[in-house]
Amino acid sequence: SIVVPSVLELTKHPISKLPLRYERDDQDPPIVFNGDSELSVPVVDLHRLAIGDFAAAEMEKLHSACKEWGFFQIINHEVPASLVNEFRMEIGSFFNLPYEEKKLLWQSRENQEGFGQLCVVSEDQKLDWSDMFYILIRPPNLRKPHLFHNLPPKLREALESYTTEVQKLAMIILNHLAEALKMDGEEMRELFRDGVQSMRMNYYPPCPEPDKAIGFSAHSDANALTILLQLNETEGLQIRKDGRWVSVKPIPNAFVVNIGNIIEIVSNGVYKSIEHRVTSNCSKERLSVATFHSPNLSLELGPAKSVVGPHNPPKFRTVPLVKYFKGYFAKKVEGKSYLDQIR
Ligand code: SIN
Ligand code: FE2
Repeated sequence: SIVVPSVLELTKHPISKLPLRYERDDQDPPIVFNGDSELSVPVVDLHRLAIGDFAAAEMEKLHSACKEWGFFQIINHEVPASLVNEFRMEIGSFFNLPYEEKKLLWQSRENQEGFGQLCVVSEDQKLDWSDMFYILIRPPNLRKPHLFHNLPPKLREALESYTTEVQKLAMIILNHLAEALKMDGEEMRELFRDGVQSMRMNYYPPCPEPDKAIGFSAHSDANALTILLQLNETEGLQIRKDGRWVSVKPIPNAFVVNIGNIIEIVSNGVYKSIEHRVTSNCSKERLSVATFHSPNLSLELGPAKSVVGPHNPPKFRTVPLVKYFKGYFAKKVEGKSYLDQIR
């Protein structure tokens, strides 16, 4: 992959003009649809899913969120707020480390992990107005020692606790999804036994010309289930809903959950992996952290056996998971185009 500059460093000295490499004409302009205040991403109460009197209604909400939106926000989860706040603070300090220290953790041509940008495959490819840090976490044999050993110790500690909790949350949600899909729960759990967990921390600096730039190009997620924490109050995440871009407003203590391509495939197209993007703004920085969950890498990826049948023939081919990921990361991400190649 290509080594890219730090956008945060570019903004350390005030600039009034966007550098050419960040000027985009391949993305929709950053307009948001605000005409209908009813139109917002569904909120699912995890606690209610476990209470007899409310469970069925909440389950229906979850099911329709996954079918119609591909996104929902989750409240009343059991990830402790203190742990989340600790991690939030450590991520803030991490992006603020001096550049000299961050260089040890920068991406290289051989390794996509670390600080930089993902899926940059040529020197003249346009770039996003953001810095990110990407790292594989589980199973442990995927960890890159040079990255783990060079993480600030307090960040590393907070990352271990946070990802352990979020892994549990992901399994709780996946079990609910299996139930809502009338999929065999054991088939779902088998898929995710020793599954892959990775993480992407994002820093979006204020932008001198936000109308010309994009914080994170439109894409759909390669993985199965993404659990996103918006780390501050700055808006920016938008999802494509019926051809329009709708903002995902940060809710304190909530997680934004979205269906990735893999669950669209496993559910045989019942659940939707929805295109989303992050816009830039001229005055406020934005921070977020996404945790990605995928099945065990030794498995094949295809529609679940307990979902397809004579009346529901497979809509996707079955391919080795490793091959699927290689294909995704080898190209510049363009909306949902990759998923269409598996049909
Ligand atoms: C994403 O992971 O696609 C969005 C990240 C963000 O909201 O910053
Ligand atoms: Fe995403």
